[in-house]
Amino acid sequence: MRWSLASLILALAIPALGYHKPRPFNARYQRHSSARGRPAGDDLTKSPYFNENSSGFAVNGTALPLVDFDVGESYAGLLPIGNMNDTSSQLYFWFFPSTNPAAQQNKEILIYLTGGPGCSSIGELLQQNGPISWQPGTFLPIENKWSWHRLTNAVWIDQPVGTGFSQGTPTATSQEDVARQFLGFWKNFVDTFTLQGYKVYVTGSSYGGMYAPYISSAMLDRNDTAYFNVSGMAVWAGLYSKIPMAQDIPIATYVDKWKEALPFNDTFRAGIKAVDAQCGYTAYLDEFLVFPPKGVQPSILPSEDPATGEAHPECQLFIGVFLATMELNPCLNAFDVTSHCPILFDPIGFAAGTFTLPSAFPTPYFNLPAVKATLNAPANTTWTFCQDQLTHPVFVNGVDTSLNAGPGSQPVLPGVIDRTGNVILGHGSRDFLVLPDQTLLTIQNLTWQGQLGFRARPQEPLFIPRHDNLNVSTAAGAGVVGSSHSERGLTWFGAAMAGHMVAQDQPAVAFRMVEVLLGRVEGFESTAPFTVDMGGGGEGGLPAGEVLGTGTVDVGGSVGYGYTGWYGNGTGYGGGKWNGTG
Ligand SMILES: *[C@@H]1O[C@H](CO)[C@@H](O)[C@H](O)[C@H]1NC(C)=O
Ligand SMILES: *[C@@H]1O[C@H](CO)[C@@H](O)[C@H](O)[C@H]1NC(C)=O
Ligand SMILES: *[C@@H]1O[C@H](CO)[C@@H](O)[C@H](O)[C@H]1NC(C)=O
Ligand SMILES: *[C@@H]1O[C@H](CO)[C@@H](O)[C@H](O)[C@H]1NC(C)=O
Ligand SMILES: *[C@@H]1O[C@H](CO)[C@@H](O)[C@H](O)[C@H]1NC(C)=O
Ligand SMILES: *[C@@H]1O[C@H](CO)[C@@H](O)[C@H](O)[C@H]1NC(C)=O
Ligand SMILES: *[C@@H]1O[C@H](CO)[C@@H](O)[C@H](O)[C@H]1NC(C)=O
Ligand SMILES: *[C@@H]1O[C@H](CO)[C@@H](O)[C@H](O)[C@H]1NC(C)=O
Ligand SMILES: *[C@@H]1O[C@H](CO)[C@@H](O)[C@H](O)[C@H]1NC(C)=O
Ligand SMILES: *[C@@H]1O[C@H](CO)[C@@H](O)[C@H](O)[C@H]1NC(C)=O
Repeated sequence: MRWSLASLILALAIPALGYHKPRPFNARYQRHSSARGRPAGDDLTKSPYFNENSSGFAVNGTALPLVDFDVGESYAGLLPIGNMNDTSSQLYFWFFPSTNPAAQQNKEILIYLTGGPGCSSIGELLQQNGPISWQPGTFLPIENKWSWHRLTNAVWIDQPVGTGFSQGTPTATSQEDVARQFLGFWKNFVDTFTLQGYKVYVTGSSYGGMYAPYISSAMLDRNDTAYFNVSGMAVWAGLYSKIPMAQDIPIATYVDKWKEALPFNDTFRAGIKAVDAQCGYTAYLDEFLVFPPKGVQPSILPSEDPATGEAHPECQLFIGVFLATMELNPCLNAFDVTSHCPILFDPIGFAAGTFTLPSAFPTPYFNLPAVKATLNAPANTTWTFCQDQLTHPVFVNGVDTSLNAGPGSQPVLPGVIDRTGNVILGHGSRDFLVLPDQTLLTIQNLTWQGQLGFRARPQEPLFIPRHDNLNVSTAAGAGVVGSSHSERGLTWFGAAMAGHMVAQDQPAVAFRMVEVLLGRVEGFESTAPFTVDMGGGGEGGLPAGEVLGTGTVDVGGSVGYGYTGWYGNGTGYGGGKWNGTG
């Protein structure tokens, strides 16, 4: 059984659509931005990260094509996954030392990992949490005041081998292999930038729910605080459990919750309900998504054949719902159930790239030769945001045995919580790729600090301080914008008005998450102002006389519907056809 988030989107959703001819873009896209300001690099020698070994990685902050501001000090390039002299396999990084003195004082380094598998982390630097923001549908990049490097030292890494600008032939068959590669790279990275003794924070999203726990766990196993002092981990929209937990089991409940965005006809709704009942999905949520949990979830789900472990074909509910949604909303983007037509131009060529980019901007940003040259990227590597896992798998034969032959990252998550006491797992409520209930369903099956799951139902608020939300570089919701809950070193949050890409949709929530992770504020319920200036006069917290109340993202629930439809052959769960009866 072969599966990936990226191939689901690429192989399943997109080809169903026709290409909409875009309006031509301004010819300036093809030129480089004019040089302005001081040449970056003139004061680099004062940086604690600039030395004889790192100098070759320095990026000229004013030289990035189309970027109209100085991105400041940064370093990018390739480092081997083993011996520094062996360049056969290398990972690619883009490292932004923090503008915040607290990061150097506290000796912190944060790692960000995009998922996929096979999706590039620098792609999300540009569209989620980095200093430069170039969102789909926008004309030019702008400065992102929610960039995580404003809080701490942050590095975006294209991994495992086979992803983004990384070099080499993929050899990984499991998350243990991915972690081994990563730790080899990390030792070289720490040596290059003299980061020995730094606290390491591992973050990621989506398939990063596999990567981050396995990498954190492998780092902690080394007992080597000079290189691997993991002090916390944070993931959103993570995949931690086998696929049906993230899609089929919660889908009927999700359809009901989002009925304005998923307005299926009566026949289809009845079909969803019938399949849901037949396969025991909502019943599963009723039994296991409770607080405290009743018990450990069995390895074999009710929809699976105990002999083979494979899902019964008629129980593959999610794909059918997804395709039926595409019929109603042909521009659906699985990252956000509320997405709609038109499909936006995407400067990294993800959605748009599948249709071909506009003729005025035919090349994904990171493939522009001048961008590659500025970022010390390999000139002869074609960068793709998400490698198609059917044609260019990052796991041998496209199989990650940690997911296909095991319950995802569940085996290592408790150890990371127990050893750091600082793990955050969040989800955007609009995510239509990894359904939000999976995160809590996973948490309710983990035993950490000697106890199973959360004892109490999550209902506390997630508060975002007031800031300058009318400026394009800081625009983001404020106030109570979700829910949160913490027990025994594990924190969950649910972000309202956010899909799969939490930092893209609710950048202030992602920024606050990093403040919580670093211990700069007490938690998501804190009403303390942001710890760096976000504009708006710095008034920050709760207006006088107001109460926070409860969170605004519901947890679980059981009001399932069901469905019908047809799904493809082999791009998702291994093929089959809906029998049309449900
Ligand atoms: C640079 O690398 C060499 C070889 O690993 C090492 O001996 C030297 O100490 C490094 N320099 C710095 C400033 O870390
Ligand atoms: C950085 O790039 C700008 C714009 O291309 C250029 O004018 C400047 O000389 C470069 N600085 C360095 C140190 O190379
Ligand atoms: C790399 O090669 C050089 C020259 O052959 C050698 O002196 C050095 O020890 C090697 N470094 C490592 C890490 O093996
Ligand atoms: C790390 O420490 C633990 C507990 O003290 C020990 O069981 C383990 O063998 C050590 N691992 C290594 C690689 O030294
Ligand atoms: C490792 O990080 C913890 C915080 O998580 C810190 O308290 C501790 O001092 C660090 N250890 C070393 C040896 O730096
Ligand atoms: C729940 O946890 C148990 C024990 O760790 C594991 O064996 C089982 O596979 C998990 N169930 C699911 C559905 O992930
Ligand atoms: C109801 O929706 C399903 C799924 O999209 C579709 O196959 C069916 O034709 C629809 N029925 C009507 C009456 O539109
Ligand atoms: C890319 O170029 C480098 C340096 O010229 C070379 O070592 C490498 O083999 C090339 N890679 C490919 C895939 O052609
Ligand atoms: C937005 O913020 C930037 C940086 O703080 C500032 O230079 C700019 O004037 C602001 N724009 C508006 C419209 O307030
Ligand atoms: C799906 O079926 C079509 C038609 O039979 C075939 O051309 C295609 O290769 C199949 N796709 C996969 C991924 O097996």
